[in-house]
Amino acid sequence: MTTKIFVDGAFYNKDDAKISVYDHGLLYGDGIYEGLRCYSGYVFQMKEHLNRLKRSANSLRIQLPYPLEKIGEFILETLKINELQNAYIRLLITRGVGNIGPDPSTCKSASLIIIVEDLPNVHGRSVKENGLSLVIASTRRDAVDATSHEIKSLNYLNSVVARMEANEYGADDAILLDPRGFVSESTICNVFIIEKNTLVTPSPSNGILQGITRQMIMDIARELNMEVKQSDITPFQLINADEVFLTGTHAEIVGVTRINNIELSGGEIGRTTRNLIHKFQEKTVNPKYSTPIYKNINKDEVTN
Ligand SMILES: Cc1ncc(COP(=O)(O)O)c(C=O)c1O
Repeated sequence: MTTKIFVDGAFYNKDDAKISVYDHGLLYGDGIYEGLRCYSGYVFQMKEHLNRLKRSANSLRIQLPYPLEKIGEFILETLKINELQNAYIRLLITRGVGNIGPDPSTCKSASLIIIVEDLPNVHGRSVKENGLSLVIASTRRDAVDATSHEIKSLNYLNSVVARMEANEYGADDAILLDPRGFVSESTICNVFIIEKNTLVTPSPSNGILQGITRQMIMDIARELNMEVKQSDITPFQLINADEVFLTGTHAEIVGVTRINNIELSGGEIGRTTRNLIHKFQEKTVNPKYSTPIYKNINKDEVTN
């Protein structure tokens, strides 16, 4: 069956789903997005994703084309029409069609695009079992200004350049530092280190996206009586941590076993990381955190 893509209220076959070349999402990367995941017919943490979408839109003063609960319904419809129970969901809001110049006031209305795909295994099974090898990229994450990754925007250029660096060194992915030289995040994931019984992750002031998986991992760690800190992490601390792992909706939780060709945790995914992966997997199948595909959504379920 050809994948059906949702664009502004209608479904199109994959090859026919198009936007205008005058859309500022294309011309200027002026837009925002969310990546969600559906596990066994349940969209995981939909409310959290839609609320982050709202915050991203708010900070760029993008008027969402539909209320959040309607966007939630469109997500479920797109899954239904594609007959998918386990899927990655990409939701994009572009600024819309405007003049050739960057002034967003020329764009009449934002566009909504929803793409769903079979659930991928981002880094491949062997990576999940053996851990990732990373490089610390020379490309920096942006400072905490208008282009910060705190906004989940369509501008991923520093991630793209960092990923090219990783490719050149034969690594799986790259870590970006913030403009002061502290650890920020990887190209598409948040970073955690474990030092004894403490879980440490960079804070929003390090220019990170406040990941939804990151928040869940911090909550799980507290349930396990670990100390949880958000603070500056130096590259030295990263390389010498007891354990390092990445988190993201797409990648889930992946252990890191090599950075800049230096072996970490004896080349194996650490015990605490494995435990956190296990606890996280339990949450992904707990209906408390999910919205079933076959359901009507009301406003309270998608707004804080
Ligand atoms: C730059 C960046 N950091 C972190 C994340 C992880 O965020 P989440 O756990 O909400 O998927 C993502 C996800 O796309 C990302 O693009």
